[in-house]
Amino acid sequence: MINAGGLELDNPLCLAPLAGITTLTVREFFSSLGAGLTHTEMISCAGLVRDNAKTLDMLAVSEHESPLVVQLFASGEKILCEGAAKVLDSCKKFAALGVNMACPMPKITRNGSGAALLRRPDEACNMIRGLKGLVNLPVWVKIRKLDDDNLTLSFIERILSAGADNICIHGRTPAQRYEGIADREIIRLAAEKFPGYISASGDVKTLDDIHEYLSMGSVCVMLARGAFANAWLFEEFRGIFKTPDKKLDDLIKFAYLTKNYSGEHRAVVLLKRFAGSMIKSAHGAAELRARAMLSQNLEELIKILCEGVKKNYAC
Ligand SMILES: Cc1cc2nc3c(=O)[nH]c(=O)nc-3n(C[C@H](O)[C@H](O)[C@H](O)COP(=O)(O)O)c2cc1C
Repeated sequence: MINAGGLELDNPLCLAPLAGITTLTVREFFSSLGAGLTHTEMISCAGLVRDNAKTLDMLAVSEHESPLVVQLFASGEKILCEGAAKVLDSCKKFAALGVNMACPMPKITRNGSGAALLRRPDEACNMIRGLKGLVNLPVWVKIRKLDDDNLTLSFIERILSAGADNICIHGRTPAQRYEGIADREIIRLAAEKFPGYISASGDVKTLDDIHEYLSMGSVCVMLARGAFANAWLFEEFRGIFKTPDKKLDDLIKFAYLTKNYSGEHRAVVLLKRFAGSMIKSAHGAAELRARAMLSQNLEELIKILCEGVKKNYAC
């Protein structure tokens, strides 16, 4: 067990918040693989306050999940606290409240939410102070690095003084969006200056990446796009190495769970997302991948994947 941001977790490898991806069955899947903690997608406080049905649906939780952070986005203290009050009213079991100060996409920043808060540290601090006054849960904040390391460190210092329990830094600037290499030096600097409070995100694709971030003093490491390519990094981190056919069994179980919960279309979309890499080097892989990508039918997609895995690994 480890202590991280006011929580006790089985291990420090966590599933990052991923809009459009980290819905209930995906979190359940990664929990079953051993994620120490997972996140919801970012959820709009404005949507919660308006009782928007789709937004409220995003608060659904299963009893088979690892500790879960519900990540919220808002442009100021009042709306954040109103949204958080709705979350508490929902009576769902969240381990911590997350606040997104990282999303660089214009539809989020133009309203003053997400990464726009990095340029408004006073408002960002008011939000965290307000939230800490309202809820009796740890508050996890996700940020991006700024152009200047000193600015990043001073932003973190202020947010921690306002009461945040954990700061996850994605080592790309908002202007970089998802391109270029994530900077690890800022994680090292921040973890050195604020020991026990910093988690890492950015280019986590291998066990070496995870261990490098941990050796720098990161409390937790967040797996994001690396989880699309190899969901089983969560198991491998704990010394469990599965054969491709066992991995496919996991995915098939996940796909049927998703079909039952969210319908066939969602199951097909997610299975393509997580299984693509399993057939990448098969003989005739290009043709198999093209067939898999065109398939809209779960049974058919599973058949193609089984064929791919057999060709790939002769199992
Ligand atoms: C499809 C997608 C959706 C994302 N959604 C969120 C989100 O809702 N909240 C958030 O804080 N970060 C979000 N992120 C950022 C990731 O959590 C992570 O910080 C980023 O992808 C860097 O890690 P990586 O280089 O290992 O992918 C998203 C990233 C991707 C690719």
